[in-house]
Amino acid sequence: MKKVLFVGDINVDVIMGGLPSQPVPNKEITCGSHDVTVGSSALICASAYRFLGGRTWFAGLAGKDANGRLMLDRMRQFGIDASLVELTDKVATGVTVNLIVGHSRSQITCPGTITEYAGRKLNGRIFSRFDHVHFAGPYQQTALRPKIAGLLRAAAGAGVTTSLDPQWDVTEKWKFMKEWLPLLTWFFPNADEAISITGGRNARQACMRLAKMTACPIVKMGKDGAMVCRNGRIVSIPSYNVKIRDTTGAGDNLDAGVLYAILEKRMDVIEAVRFGIAAGARSCQFAGGVGARSTCKDIIRFMKEHAKK
Ligand SMILES: Nc1ncnc2c1ncn2[C@@H]1O[C@H](COP(=O)(O)OP(=O)(O)OP(=O)(O)O)[C@@H](O)[C@H]1O
Ligand SMILES: [Mg+2]
Repeated sequence: MKKVLFVGDINVDVIMGGLPSQPVPNKEITCGSHDVTVGSSALICASAYRFLGGRTWFAGLAGKDANGRLMLDRMRQFGIDASLVELTDKVATGVTVNLIVGHSRSQITCPGTITEYAGRKLNGRIFSRFDHVHFAGPYQQTALRPKIAGLLRAAAGAGVTTSLDPQWDVTEKWKFMKEWLPLLTWFFPNADEAISITGGRNARQACMRLAKMTACPIVKMGKDGAMVCRNGRIVSIPSYNVKIRDTTGAGDNLDAGVLYAILEKRMDVIEAVRFGIAAGARSCQFAGGVGARSTCKDIIRFMKEHAKK
């Protein structure tokens, strides 16, 4: 079985579900549900990969606080190896509060460990113990970001495949992106990110442009599934009609599904993206990014049961 290392942010997701409206200044509103769970793009992706059945390691920074302990406990519970996680008492573990109103999600993040993590334990020797390394959320990880190009080169030097989910860059400058793209094996932006990175008119054009810059862009399209560029042509793969509960981490579940399908099931990219889309869609039916706990069998059953749009 392939050994996969996930590198990135550790934070707690507080999910306030079923809000009747957006928050009202100077007023209290009551919501329908409340969850404290695993957050952060990288850790949700690692957890989803682990639930599918993959061998999973995580490298990041946790605070020596209750939230940091909670995240390390969850990793142990899920079966993720946390031996490359660093601990700090200088900053608190990051927290994101998610406010879910209907299908919309507003987030407030106190970054803490997210911006402090600098990947000190990572190098080519460490990477050589793995088959694949996945990075996620670099635009919030200000200390790690300048090191990612060097780490991708070290991974390539160690013969390890790599992937990256950029998540949104609030500055929209996408610093270092041009350096990272040629070094990546798979790249997982969503449509907005792909358009902003390339200046494309739409997701299609953005995907075409990315295909000239990186080996395999996989552009996530929310309810419309995803697109990939194969042999100079765009292939759109639809998603499924599902009753949406919470889309938190749907993209990270897709990333995990695609990686698992390629690395463990040896599927080609198109089949792997189909599998990943099912993983993303299934996760939308549960609260939080790790609520679905989809196994490989769950995804295969989901694909059989859900009629395509
Ligand atoms: N409303 C929806 N209906 C059906 N499937 C969905 C829906 N939203 C997301 N998905 C599934 O989840 C996948 C990833 O979602 P999305 O395109 O929103 O990624 P993302 O923007 O990277 O998400 P994230 O919020 O995790 O960063 C989609 O490709 C699709 O398979
Ligand atoms: Mg995303």
